[in-house]
Amino acid sequence: MYGQIRFERNPHLKTKPGIQDDLGFGRIFTDHMLVLDYEEGQGWHDPRIIPYAPLSYDPAAMIFHYGQAVFEGLKAFRTESGEIQIFRPDQNAKRLNRSSERLNMPPIDETFIVNAIQELVRVDADWVPSKQGASLYIRPFVIATEAGLGVRPSSRYSFVVIMSPVGAYYEEGLQPVKILVESHYARAVHGGTGGAKAAGNYAASLKAQVLAKEHDCAQVLWLDAIDKKSLEEVGSMNVFFKIGGEVITPSLSGSILEGITRKSIIHLLSDWGIPVTERRISIDEIVQAYENGTLEEAFGTGTAAVVSPIGSLLWQDTPMVINNGEIGELVHKLYDTITGIQYGRIADKHGWMVTC
Ligand code: COI
Repeated sequence: MYGQIRFERNPHLKTKPGIQDDLGFGRIFTDHMLVLDYEEGQGWHDPRIIPYAPLSYDPAAMIFHYGQAVFEGLKAFRTESGEIQIFRPDQNAKRLNRSSERLNMPPIDETFIVNAIQELVRVDADWVPSKQGASLYIRPFVIATEAGLGVRPSSRYSFVVIMSPVGAYYEEGLQPVKILVESHYARAVHGGTGGAKAAGNYAASLKAQVLAKEHDCAQVLWLDAIDKKSLEEVGSMNVFFKIGGEVITPSLSGSILEGITRKSIIHLLSDWGIPVTERRISIDEIVQAYENGTLEEAFGTGTAAVVSPIGSLLWQDTPMVINNGEIGELVHKLYDTITGIQYGRIADKHGWMVTC
């Protein structure tokens, strides 16, 4: 599909971080990147793995003006035996195309996406960290590159994949965070782009994130833009609550991103026989559960952190402390199981890992 991937080796390899170096998140990039171009009439063409370098586009390229851009995030892990495996890349390929469809961008063959990512990881295999908790974060994205200021879909695009060795999201282990329930700003609306991993969704979230920090909170809990009651996401993660033994996560209403970690967690909970429901859940229900003592755990889920326990929710200036601000048993078990599968310590019964 799209022809053989051309390979141009980087003649100037960078010094790789040492095993003790703090990698942070998305600050260091590997030696190579993958690029595939699209032009109306010609389709996707010229796949190539080339030295990591700045991209050069016309200042009138549509990406700079109207934000026609989607992205993905996935990770490759090094197992104890030294093998490299990627977590559910087929799901990212599918979601990339769903996101592109929403922004009127052309789809890319999903088998090509997975194979191209595997090939890129093989080229930069030495960049996959071996430290526990660290991994290689893979960032595929599609941008509109036609030069022109008319508001219409671009006729040219680039699909690019870059990669970054990243540390464990929480170097000190899982840490419960304080979350501000956001009642003014909205992340997305029904019929909008919230269900797509569109770059603009993240731009629109930044103002509220900054306000949350001013309230000494790590992130915001987003409410539905219209009813201002239904829960949506926490920061850029999906959100789960355990109330009276049942695990609840907001159903995919169109404004919520279909997280791959979310989907995997629902799968694991069902395997374990823990009741898990996808439905509308409101902030009133959370307040009620908190008041009657049935709110057991709350957590966010995403590729970057896997799970992130919520220690307290700040709602209308009143904090609701969850599980005494401590890490819940379920969050622990989910984190240990997913990372166990990712690093090859736990058998991959579901066939989620793809070897490079
Ligand atoms: C994730 O939790 O993986 C995210 O979506 C955040 C990412 C944009 C850095």
